[in-house]
Parts: sequence; structure tokens; C-alpha cells
Amino acid sequence: MDSRWSCRPGCLSHTVPYAIPCYDPKGLQQFETRSEDETIQLGREIAAGLPRRAVVLLIGNLGAGKTTLAKGIVSGLGAAAPDDVTSPTFTLIHEYGGGRVYHVDLYRLERAEEAARLGLDEIFERNAVVLIEWGERFPRLMPAERIEIRMAAGTSDQRRIQVTGIEPILKPAR
Ligand SMILES: Nc1ncnc2c1ncn2[C@@H]1O[C@H](COP(=O)(O)OP(=O)(O)OP(=O)(O)O)[C@@H](O)[C@H]1O
Ligand SMILES: [Mg+2]
Repeated sequence: MDSRWSCRPGCLSHTVPYAIPCYDPKGLQQFETRSEDETIQLGREIAAGLPRRAVVLLIGNLGAGKTTLAKGIVSGLGAAAPDDVTSPTFTLIHEYGGGRVYHVDLYRLERAEEAARLGLDEIFERNAVVLIEWGERFPRLMPAERIEIRMAAGTSDQRRIQVTGIEPILKPAR
């Protein structure tokens, strides 16, 4: 399918020439969690809807809960327990489940060339789920076909989470 023609209404890719190619054939789902544990549980549910091979951008400010959600996704995929999933902020790339899942954090990189040198292209070719924090800082290095998860902190422990590009299998926001 040509994904350029299957965006949700209002997708900027149709009207803004410099917008990145549309990656969103399956619409937008919104959720709200009220604790770290709920976000981990949501991650498990998202994992159940992921294909074997996917690039998932985790987008949100510092402390929004990207790594917390990654704990749930990695554990939902059966690749590691949540407590064994740690932030790759300094190590840049963590691998779980014998290469079935990668967790990448590009926060500390300043230039696209540094990110390109990590060999992400080669990782994207693998039969794996690749979770990426701060990947949106280097849009040209990210594949057009991808899932995006946007996270925003609300009051105290509340988090609003928007998911695009997976089948609508999840329960709606409360
Ligand atoms: N509903 C919630 N979901 C996720 N985390 C929450 C929630 N409520 C509170 N928190 C807290 O917010 C913090 C989220 O940290 P986390 O490392 O997941 O953020 P991050 O988005 O990966 O940040 P960074 O950009 O620094 O990597 C944790 O301290 C967690 O306990
Ligand atoms: Mg993080």
C-alpha cells in the first residue's frame, strides 16, 4: 500500500511539502495513565499490537515516561523483565531478547553524523522491534514507516499517551 494516501484526515504530509512522509495509516489512539505501573502495563498492551519488525519513536520531554513505557514494551515482548530495562541515555543502545528488541536513546548526541555512525540503518534492517527515545531530533535518519508514541506529563503522575500506526487493539482513555 502507498502509505502517502492513507493518512488520517488533517495529516500535514498532503499539504506541507517539507513534512516528513506520512507514516500513519492506522489512526491515532489516546491513553492516560496515572502511575508508573499503569504506563508499564500500557506498554505491555502496545507490545501485543506490534509487528515482529517495527521502529517505534518514543517522543516526549525529559521525564515524560519514555523509558518507563519501554520497560512495558520490552517485557510485553518477552525480551526482559521491566526492572532489567534501564535507560540507554549513556550507553545509547541496549539489546534485549537476543536481538529481538533494541532500545536506543539519542538524547546525548548533538549532530546527525554522530547518530548516523551508530549504524541505525543496519539495526532497522533486522527482524526486531527498535524503540527510540529522542529519535525525532534526527528525522532524516528515521524510517518513514514507523510507529510514533507521544507522551506528555499532566498533573503529578498523570501521563497522556498518543499512539499512531498500530492496530486499534487497545482500550480507550478513561
Ligand atoms: N504515569 C506515569 N508514567 C510514567 N512515569 C511516571 C508516571 N507518573 C510518574 N512517573 C515518573 O516519571 C518518571 C519518568 O521517567 P522516564 O525515565 O521513564 O522518563 P523519560 O521520558 O525516559 O525521560 P528521559 O528523556 O530523561 O529519558 C519516573 O520517575 C516515573 O516514576
Ligand atoms: Mg528515557
